[in-house]
Amino acid sequence: MLPLVVSFVSLFAASASAQASAASTAACQAILQALGSTKVQSSGAMYDNTADTYWSFFNTVDLPTCIVYPSSASDVQVAMTQIFDAGSDYAVRAGAHSPMIGWNSINDGVLISFEEMTAVSYSSTTDTITLQPGTTAGGVEEAVESFGVSAIWGRANVIGSGLLLGGGISFEGPLYGWASDRIKEMDVVLVTGQLVTASATNEYADLFLALKGGANRFGIVTRYELYAAHTGTKDDKLWYGGLVVYPASSTTALLTAISHYVRDATDPNAGGIMLVSASDTTSATAHACYFFYKGTTLPTSIFGELLSVPSTSQTFSTYSFYDITFLITGDDGPNGQQFGATAFVGDESGAAFLNGYNNLVNFTQTFSEQLIGSFFTVSPIPLSQWAASLSGENAIGNPGVNYGAIDFNLVFPDNESTRPAALNDAFELLLSQNPPSPGLPLYMNECHESQEVLASYPNYALLQAAYAKYDPTGFNVAHTKGPKGL
Ligand SMILES: Cc1cc2nc3c(=O)[nH]c(=O)nc-3n(C[C@H](O)[C@H](O)[C@H](O)COP(=O)(O)OP(=O)(O)OC[C@H]3O[C@@H](n4cnc5c(N)ncnc54)[C@H](O)[C@@H]3O)c2cc1C
Ligand SMILES: *[C@@H]1O[C@H](CO)[C@@H](O)[C@H](O)[C@H]1NC(C)=O
Ligand SMILES: *[C@@H]1O[C@H](CO)[C@@H](O)[C@H](O)[C@H]1NC(C)=O
Repeated sequence: MLPLVVSFVSLFAASASAQASAASTAACQAILQALGSTKVQSSGAMYDNTADTYWSFFNTVDLPTCIVYPSSASDVQVAMTQIFDAGSDYAVRAGAHSPMIGWNSINDGVLISFEEMTAVSYSSTTDTITLQPGTTAGGVEEAVESFGVSAIWGRANVIGSGLLLGGGISFEGPLYGWASDRIKEMDVVLVTGQLVTASATNEYADLFLALKGGANRFGIVTRYELYAAHTGTKDDKLWYGGLVVYPASSTTALLTAISHYVRDATDPNAGGIMLVSASDTTSATAHACYFFYKGTTLPTSIFGELLSVPSTSQTFSTYSFYDITFLITGDDGPNGQQFGATAFVGDESGAAFLNGYNNLVNFTQTFSEQLIGSFFTVSPIPLSQWAASLSGENAIGNPGVNYGAIDFNLVFPDNESTRPAALNDAFELLLSQNPPSPGLPLYMNECHESQEVLASYPNYALLQAAYAKYDPTGFNVAHTKGPKGL
């Protein structure tokens, strides 16, 4: 019986993929005809370089039918129109740093890659930064720093503009807000190929809100205009802080102090990230935390407990915004990466943080052969981060309480191209063991593809309405991998 079952299954798989290929082949031929062979490639050095270059090694497995390299919004309109007409699968990539499988890569489909659209400019008249989607945090900072301004982004210079569509958490977020909430205007190509400009105040305000946290579901953004943050030049050392390394013996005290910081740190000048290692449970250099304050010290009233937890080293100095942008590069070798999100309010006992961490340690020990690293990463989200918005509400929706966004981050061995099924099942168990505290949203940019991120948003109903309006046939959900729930 067994061989028969196998051959039936593989026959079915072959015909499903042949159908996908026919649609994507038709789309690629039509786009090639319209845009030419420089902008549409199905093989060769440029194609290979794109398909092989992803932060997470797992996404290098996918081979697109063709890769489209647009140089303008109208090129994206051409591509999207043909994809829509052919009924082809597709994916969009900007900085290629999201590890969710298939959200920025595609097998048997059209990949739109923004690597040829990297322009950045600053206008002192409007006090805004205009950028194309192919640029990175570091690219924007290099381009505008001399004007004494910055774009608010994330905490690693290599991250691309896809961050803006998921929210965007930075060290300076408590003061300047979510990265997405500094968007003034976006040019967006809808699924049908129509180009619109969306802002908080025009007829596309519902689309604008949905894009600010709705990830890749609501259209393809071809231009962002951001409100500039007046952060100074690279010589203006307006921040103080740096790296604190903690030994494994401090784990319980550190997690408890993190819970208190998440609850109590309301000064918008304070920011930080805590990477608590769940794979290194013995060494003197297990955990790494970065703390910053816009000022000349790390105030004891805010950071006192964290700094009094026994540490291995504390490396502090003054920093400009530019220095902080380039402090963490975050580019690794050929490692598969995996994120999983939860969110906790901080309380006195720290129980949620301790339980989550201990569950991750147990998971990591179960799969010690399959992993080279695992981290319980905490990003504090104080209420000031919502209050700072310059462009109204975002897709997420303010839950009305300080909390910590948690990322269960796994790192796989070099060149390992697949995730074992048993590990996936256990990871979903780990996530179900650690649901968000009631009412808290999951963070899109740090989620696992199995998670119901959109349904966790206080503003979920607004997103559902916007999706039904701007993609009434559900084309994006049917043909692109991304967050579930629409
Ligand atoms: C080392 C590292 C550090 C990180 N640090 C932070 C951090 O400090 N703060 C934080 O908030 N996040 C952080 N992240 C998460 C990061 O924000 C997300 O991975 C982000 O989505 C990456 O954007 P990208 O453009 O590089 O990636 P991509 O994978 O290219 O894009 C991300 C998603 O957005 C979609 N997309 C991209 N551009 C467009 C577009 N123009 N139109 C429509 N859809 C589009 C893609 O299809 C994909 O689904 C970090 C990630 C890494 C790897
Ligand atoms: C991973 O692959 C690269 C390129 O093929 C190779 O140079 C490297 O040695 C490999 N690393 C391991 C640990 O196998
Ligand atoms: C430890 O992890 C294993 C593998 O996922 C799981 O079966 C077990 O229930 C976990 N134990 C605890 C206490 O979480």
